[in-house]
Amino acid sequence: MKQQLEKIESLAKEEILSCDDIKGLDSLRVKYLGKKGEITSILKQMGKLSAEERPIIGQLANKVREDIENTISEKLKALKQIEQDNAIKNETIDITLPGKTKQIGKLHPLTIVANEIKEIFIGMGYSIADGPEVEYDYYNFEALNLPPDHPARDTQDTFYITDNILLRTQTSSVQVHVMENQKPPIRVISPGRVYRSDAVDATHSPLFNQIEGLVVDKGITMADLKGTLETLMRRLYGDDYKIRLRPHHFPFTEPSAEVDVMCFNCQGKGCRVCKNEGYIEVLGAGMVHPKVLEGCGIDSEIYSGFAFGLGLERIVMRRYNINDMRLLYENDLRFLEQF
Ligand code: PHE
Repeated sequence: MKQQLEKIESLAKEEILSCDDIKGLDSLRVKYLGKKGEITSILKQMGKLSAEERPIIGQLANKVREDIENTISEKLKALKQIEQDNAIKNETIDITLPGKTKQIGKLHPLTIVANEIKEIFIGMGYSIADGPEVEYDYYNFEALNLPPDHPARDTQDTFYITDNILLRTQTSSVQVHVMENQKPPIRVISPGRVYRSDAVDATHSPLFNQIEGLVVDKGITMADLKGTLETLMRRLYGDDYKIRLRPHHFPFTEPSAEVDVMCFNCQGKGCRVCKNEGYIEVLGAGMVHPKVLEGCGIDSEIYSGFAFGLGLERIVMRRYNINDMRLLYENDLRFLEQF
């Protein structure tokens, strides 16, 4: 029995020392020290021994068990150390490598200028109104004094969802929403997308942006309109800007005007951008038609107002000397990164 134990010990040590993974070590522990392990099976035979032999063999068995346990735990420690060293080696970061840069986006020029215009008007006490892009015919045309079959509808052909619902052709539709919901004094601007079935060229797109303005109060005159637009243009372009007002017709304003700014591309000489006019029309404006006020429940004997609608793209193009409107929609980063 003594020999058996000694043999087990030397075999176990040999196996443990040559074992090189933690799992294998675990099964060696079971093999030698477990309930059904080799030492236990020897101890089971202790009954056959004489009274003198028993304590000696018992002692030896305990010593062998302890030795094997110690060998296992030392080996385990060594294996764990190797594992940790490997982990550290594998997880090492080379801090001399160049960092990954995050690409931060930029505001689109249309957004930059829209924000500027909002700031200018907020500074003059206006608030911002919003309205739907998918609109009823009533708000886009009829309430703006453009009944069905009115010839001016032809110049604003758009995309129809049903006979009665369309993509709005102008932010003027928001004028009606505001006046239906708010009593004077009213001072709002309303930026947003509008749609027309126009062919794409250097100055036209079927989707573009407008900013509508509406002021309704007692004693509002054309002088207020002109002063407001001059203030806007000076703040946008500087004091030496040139604009011109031309008499015009809109069904929902009376009198009406179109406002032009001098062409940035040719300085008034005439070119492709301004279609040889020397000026570019940037907005339509006028005094709110009494019929429109009355239709929204506002007494036109007491109140008057002005409205204007400006084309954001044209303002942006003049601002940054962009000579083709398509650049604003193509999302070419080489273009957009310049702002
Ligand atoms: N809605 C008009 C257009 O799109 C512009 C406009 C707005 C004219 C407000 C007068 C008053 O052409």
